[in-house]
Amino acid sequence: MIELQGITKNFGSLQVLKGIDLRINEGEIVSIVGPSGAGKTTLLQIMGTLDKPDSGTVLFDGVNINKYKEKALSAFRNKHIGFVFQFHQLLPEFTAVENVLIPAYIAGKSRKESRSEALEILKFMGLEDRATHKPNELSGGEKQRVAVARALINHPNIILADEPSGSLDSHNKEELHQLFFELRKQFGQTFVIVTHDEKLAKITDRTLHMVDGLMIDNPEAKLELETEANNNTKVDILQEDTTIQSSEESQSNAI
Ligand SMILES: Nc1ncnc2c1ncn2[C@@H]1O[C@H](COP(=O)(O)OP(=O)(O)OP(=O)(O)O)[C@@H](O)[C@H]1O
Ligand SMILES: [Mg+2]
Repeated sequence: MIELQGITKNFGSLQVLKGIDLRINEGEIVSIVGPSGAGKTTLLQIMGTLDKPDSGTVLFDGVNINKYKEKALSAFRNKHIGFVFQFHQLLPEFTAVENVLIPAYIAGKSRKESRSEALEILKFMGLEDRATHKPNELSGGEKQRVAVARALINHPNIILADEPSGSLDSHNKEELHQLFFELRKQFGQTFVIVTHDEKLAKITDRTLHMVDGLMIDNPEAKLELETEANNNTKVDILQEDTTIQSSEESQSNAI
């Protein structure tokens, strides 16, 4: 379904992705793990067309999406890709069901039909009696499930999740992870999930290990590179501000 070939990305003189090749098949649940600063979020954003690689190709069902201009790309993203972030990114002034509907409105779908579908999805997640609550009236776990419902509303081919359970306690974490598998079972939903949660990584179909801008499959090489990556954390701290700003910008483009 998604194929990345030779993806590289630099931020100034920092080489963040150093040539990534990977393929995600339909119906798979794939996790991406790796130390902080390894390039996981950058890779997910390129996979989700929120950012462009410096070189390499992103193929979606065999079609090279690098050639799309911004407007066509937004429409493509809205239709084919769902996003879930570590912090739900729900709009505070809208209710749960209204938040779920936003991508459907952007896609120009009928309001009435979309609303009943949004309510169906919320029901599937056990949130039917929370549909008219605003985000500040929902628990952390509920907010994240609403964010998953929003990612699902346009029936995306794939959901890309960046540390989706990173802000949840262990009970809510477990529930959210079960939900991903339930959505695959019921709807064949494909997921790529960046996570620091070992338990989740273990139960996914495949775990991709990323270290210092590369996918690693040799555990010994991994150890060496991890040490190297840890030595680079100073750089991360210095650059944290710009990273947060830019990922917030692209997160708002994703919805
Ligand atoms: N917009 C940007 N400008 C400059 N540097 C950036 C930018 N975005 C990311 N970086 C840098 O690229 C590197 C990889 O960042 P990325 O966010 O992809 O890491 P990550 O693997 O997701 O880490 P974490 O587990 O902490 O979320 C980091 O060193 C980061 O500081
Ligand atoms: Mg990240």
